Amino acid sequence: MCDSCKKKFYITTPIYYPSDKLHIGHTYCTVATDAMARYKRLRGYDVMFLTGTDEHGQKIETRAKAAGITPQQFVDNIVTGEKGVLDLWKLMNISYDRFIRTTDDYHVEAVQKIFKKMYEKGDIYKGTYKGMYCTPCESFWTESQLKDGKCPDCGRECQPAEEEAYFFRLSKYAQPVRDLLTNTDFLEPRSRVNEMVNNFIDAGLEDLCVSRTSFTWGIPVDFDPGHVVYVWVDALFNYTTALGFLNDKYDDYEKYWPADVHFVGKEIVRFHSIIWPAMLMSMEMPLPKKVFGHGWLLLDGGKMSKSKGNVVDPYLLAERYGTDALRFFLLRSFPFGTDGNFSNELLISCINTDLANDLGNLVSRTVAMVQKYFGGKLPAEQEYDAAMDDELVHMASSLHERYEAQMERYAFQNALSEIFAVISRANKYIDENAPQPFMPDTSAEILRRIGAERGDWDSLCEFGVLAKDAQVTAGPALFPRIDAAKELEALEAMTAKPEEPKEDPLPEPLPPVSFDEFCKVEMTVVKVVACEKVKKSEKLLKFTLNDGTEQPRQILSGIAKFYEPEQLLGKTLVAVTNLPPRKMMGRESCGMLLSAERGDKLHLVMLDDAVPAGARLV
Ligand code: MSP
Repeated sequence: MCDSCKKKFYITTPIYYPSDKLHIGHTYCTVATDAMARYKRLRGYDVMFLTGTDEHGQKIETRAKAAGITPQQFVDNIVTGEKGVLDLWKLMNISYDRFIRTTDDYHVEAVQKIFKKMYEKGDIYKGTYKGMYCTPCESFWTESQLKDGKCPDCGRECQPAEEEAYFFRLSKYAQPVRDLLTNTDFLEPRSRVNEMVNNFIDAGLEDLCVSRTSFTWGIPVDFDPGHVVYVWVDALFNYTTALGFLNDKYDDYEKYWPADVHFVGKEIVRFHSIIWPAMLMSMEMPLPKKVFGHGWLLLDGGKMSKSKGNVVDPYLLAERYGTDALRFFLLRSFPFGTDGNFSNELLISCINTDLANDLGNLVSRTVAMVQKYFGGKLPAEQEYDAAMDDELVHMASSLHERYEAQMERYAFQNALSEIFAVISRANKYIDENAPQPFMPDTSAEILRRIGAERGDWDSLCEFGVLAKDAQVTAGPALFPRIDAAKELEALEAMTAKPEEPKEDPLPEPLPPVSFDEFCKVEMTVVKVVACEKVKKSEKLLKFTLNDGTEQPRQILSGIAKFYEPEQLLGKTLVAVTNLPPRKMMGRESCGMLLSAERGDKLHLVMLDDAVPAGARLV
């Protein structure tokens, strides 16, 4: 069939936020999307499979700063660097057709045009964003972001404040979005619809703040510099800019939009099923046909996340057991729509039971028997014994219907169960297998060994289509059995455990001093008014301090390795203020800041901000 006559199928994964390396949870969704894309191609569709990375936002800016590199360098490392996102998708055999990075120029320009269109239409307007402000950190926070009512970064009191911002009239679209969710099967599984309607729409849908001025790593609002576009607006439109919407990079928008399905994890269903359709309605663009919210892979009952330190490394597993075994495990062991618990035991038993025993044995026994009894070629004539053969023949020849029904519902696990029901039946009987999108390399190898051609979808509906003189070939076990006990021990040993912090040795005790001598040291509470690095010095920071007197006090301190100057602005510290002044790098230092040191760690002594400058430590 010519390409333009084929039915189109456009499928997407969420674009990943490259603040850390990907883990097995991220890999899960992309493997599922890949299996679906391969299945649709097998069924003759013209498939567009989009994936990519979502590279803007405050978190990336902060992480890059901490690493001492630019945000662009930071995301480049994670996306294109060694063992980065692109490397992982290659290893996992992900057959994406297009990869978008939201820092790509064409996407940036298109998002600017989109933002402006909604603004000109009146669906985006300027207002004030009310929140809490941490002055030393210069950061805006919402009430819910505060930690125990304090700044989540520095732990200090925040003040109520307002920031100028643009808002999207989400409230205007509450009813049409509600209708979409309740009257159509736009969102699946259906269980997620109630959650969206009750918790978000009916609870009152407020307008959405869609610009920020408190950081710069984002797409600038071109008609109001200083504002950057909210990262979710930027990210969601990737599904259309990657096709060429409002840009010249691609010309596939008319062909593929609207998407047939967006696969997304359950925590981002809200963005995809409320905000996304509302913005598309505002833009007067067609809506995607479906959003499917899959469950999470849990570890010890909790979501995997780098910050919790409970992530499972897909590289380690794919390199150890093979890409196909890992792909298979992910889709065979967990229902796609709900959460599933990952464990090493489950992984190994899945490989041993389904792959080594059932599938692997079926292939090797088939080949071995054809070699032994028919000299390696399928016999020209086959006897048919209805009593013995009917059940298997019927199961095998109707498998495609059951398989197709499950795949069309995105029920990967059930689709595989259907296949494995036939495999286990066939294991008794020793017969053929069907091509699978789940394990692309293994299916090709099985077909090679049993001397079969890869047929099209229709050939699956007929039983006994193998060439009568097909040549079979033996080979090593497709999935060697794993010694579970030994392997679990090895995996345990390899799983990165957070290193036990090593205690530095205690410093040597000092000789005693008299109380009078101690009282001679003048220790004064000071506030940091200004702090900067001393040019040409790697060690020194220059402080301007308020010591309670009219005169600012200057102290130089060799702590540049431990603190960034901005971190210390406004902090309340302790200084020894009756030492003779001394010159350091040509500058006068009048005193010494107290710090606590052990081993190679150093912490400035910091007091509660309520303590006034000039107070004396006694
Ligand atoms: N950047 C956004 C998506 C924007 S789409 C316009 C994002 N990125 S993410 O990197 O944080 O997550 C990407 C996907 O991985 C999400 O669908 C998320 O649900 C999924 N997963 C992350 N951890 C997961 C598990 N432990 N299990 C299953 N999927 C999980 O969200």
